[in-house]
This record gives sequence, C-alpha cells and structure tokens, in this order.
Amino acid sequence: MDLQLSGRVAVVTGASKGIGLAVTRTLLEEGANVVAASRKSSPELDALASPKLVHVSADFMDPEAPAQVVEKAVEAFGALDILVNNAGGPPPGVSLPRGSFLHATDEEWRAMFEFNLFSAVRAIRAAIPHLLERGGGSIVNISSGNARQPSPINVDYGAAKAGLSNLTKVLSGEFGPQGIRVNTVSPGVVRTPWWTEEGGVADKIASQAGTDRDSVLDEVVPKMLNLTTGRFVEAQEVADAVVLLASPRSGSTTGAEFVVDGGLLKEL
Ligand SMILES: NC(=O)c1ccc[n+]([C@@H]2O[C@H](COP(=O)([O-])OP(=O)(O)OC[C@H]3O[C@@H](n4cnc5c(N)ncnc54)[C@H](OP(=O)(O)O)[C@@H]3O)[C@@H](O)[C@H]2O)c1
Repeated sequence: MDLQLSGRVAVVTGASKGIGLAVTRTLLEEGANVVAASRKSSPELDALASPKLVHVSADFMDPEAPAQVVEKAVEAFGALDILVNNAGGPPPGVSLPRGSFLHATDEEWRAMFEFNLFSAVRAIRAAIPHLLERGGGSIVNISSGNARQPSPINVDYGAAKAGLSNLTKVLSGEFGPQGIRVNTVSPGVVRTPWWTEEGGVADKIASQAGTDRDSVLDEVVPKMLNLTTGRFVEAQEVADAVVLLASPRSGSTTGAEFVVDGGLLKEL
C-alpha cells in the first residue's frame, strides 16, 4: 500500500528512542521529511541521518520548545503536514510506577501534566496555522491504556493521558471541517528504553519482585497484566499504527483511538 507520504513534512516529538524513534524511521522509509525532537540525539537516530531528517534539541518541559520545533520544521522543509505528539511518560524528576495516590506531590502532578498534556497543547497550537495553510494535515497523539484504565501506581500519568485523549476528540471536531484529522494511539506496555534501560521500570519491578529484568519483561508483566498476546508490544507495532493515521489513506479516520496493547484492555 502506498501511504502517499513521500515529500510530506512531519514533526515527531520524543524521537530519539523507543516509539518516537520507530515512528521517525518508518516515516523516513515512506519518503517523508522528518523533524525529530528530543533533548539529545541517540546513536540509533544518528544512524538514520539523511537530508530528509533534522534533529532539533528541545526540552518539552520548556513552554517555548514546542513552537520552536514546529517553526524549525517549516524553516527546514517549507511546510508542515504531520505532527506526532509522542514525548511523554515520566518527566524529569518523576519516577514511575508510584506506590499510591498519596505518593505524588503537587510538584510532581504539575510536571506530569506539563510533559504529557501541555507540551502537546502547545505543539498543536503552533502547528495548526501551518496545517491550515496546506489545506489540512494529520495530528497523532500518543496516549496510553492508563487513560481509560486508570491505575493507582500511575495516577497522575493516567489523568494527564486521559486529558490528551479528550483533547484529541474535541480538536478533531473543531478542525475536521478544515481538513485536519486528529487521532489517538494508545499503547499498552511497549518494549522501549523506558522499560528496558538500566534503572528503568523493569529493573524497579524486578527489585520489588526479587527477580531479574528479563523475567519481568518476558514473564512477570505479561502475566500480571493478563496480556492476551502474552508479550510486550514492540515499538514498531505502535509506529505502524501512527504512520497509517498520519497518511492520507486514513482520510476518513478522525477523532479515533487506535489501541495497540496486546489485549491489555478487556472492556469494549
Ligand atoms: N513504553 C510504554 O510501555 C508506553 C505505554 C503507553 C504509552 N507510552 C507513551 O509512548 C510515548 C513514548 O514512550 P517510550 O516508551 O517510547 O519512551 P522512551 O523510550 O523513554 O523514549 C522517550 C523519548 O522522549 C524523549 N524525551 C524524554 N524527556 C524529554 C523532554 N523533557 N523533552 C523532549 N524529549 C524528551 C527522549 O529523549 P531525550 O531523553 O534525549 O530527551 C526519548 O526520545 C510516551 O508518550 C509514553 O507515555 C509508552
């Protein structure tokens, strides 16, 4: 299937690792131009170097950063067609999972909303005039299964992601008539550095459960969460859903949520 992405211009946030890296790689494979934003690049992102890829160093805790990244895309490639709001997860200084609602301070709640909701609000606000100039475009927001299935160990994270999913729906209604589609992809547990790196979530669960990182990833978590597929989602599987939504081939899909979670959510 030709996704008709050749020559289109995309911004991907949180693009140096995990899901954002897989989205960036897939968009490039489909012929798009990509502005990839993160605080630092990574060897994996550097390996994708091409005239179609620009890395922008940006800290999405800084309220000015999202608009600067959007402007950089227009400066580098002359337009904007696609925005993937992927940066999210625990912000600097916050560690997940928590034990209880009582463990999250005001400051941590604020940081969580800055990173997972307000940075996307700011990026969308900056992107919309450019998308309108092109006669439309696609925005894909990366939410989480926790938006619909809240958990006391990720209480502020789930609330921020629920806000992002809600925002997606309202924007799809306001800007759909002008050609801008806005959709959500909600991953379940995805095998990314957030889980796998030294000191990441898998290590934290391993020390609580008295086991090792690989057992957590391969057995403990899939069993604990009753994943239908019996395994973590791969970042590429999320990226494939994102890139399909970014494509004009999804022209009638807006305000939708694509769940890529290995059967984590059990309800309709
Ligand atoms: N992995 C999962 O199980 C899972 C499940 C549900 C939803 N999600 C969502 O999927 C998205 C991506 O998660 P992931 O697992 O791929 O994360 P990841 O592997 O931890 O990668 C995070 C990316 O975001 C960048 N980043 C971190 N802090 C940043 C900041 N302050 N400003 C700008 N960029 C920043 C990182 O690069 P730098 O550190 O260089 O900035 C990196 O490129 C998040 O929105 C997350 O909530 C993930």
